Amino acid sequence: MNYEQLAKKAIEAKKNALPTYSKFRVGSALLTEDGKIYSGCNIESSSYSLTMCAERTVIFKAISEGERKFKAIAIAGDTENYISPCGACRQVISDLCGQIDIVRVNGKGKYIVNKTSELLPSAFSDNDLK
Ligand code: THU
Repeated sequence: MNYEQLAKKAIEAKKNALPTYSKFRVGSALLTEDGKIYSGCNIESSSYSLTMCAERTVIFKAISEGERKFKAIAIAGDTENYISPCGACRQVISDLCGQIDIVRVNGKGKYIVNKTSELLPSAFSDNDLK
């Protein structure tokens, strides 16, 4: 699975988004270290703050299926710019996936790859809790 293919999975997952209020669709695809792919999308609630971003949906799906080691996450939006994960999702990626490749896909299917630490420098982590 290369990142072009992973980006396509995220674009496909965008179809299942439930952006009832924002109308802003996001899809995600998470690649495990042993080559499995999970997909997710954003899901909104009438109590807006309970909305779940596509990134956290896919990470929680995979973790709940027993996965623990990840290689990359692709995130796709209908945006002109490469979609930018929110701060909360950056923290969750850092905590649960570590230093993976984050493949940010724009509305034309083009993508850019960043490491977690590039998008969340000086991250808070479990080390700080010791
Ligand atoms: N959203 C995501 O799912 N991922 C992102 O990277 C950015 C924002 C969702 C949350 C909400 O459903 C909608 O996009 C607008 O903020």
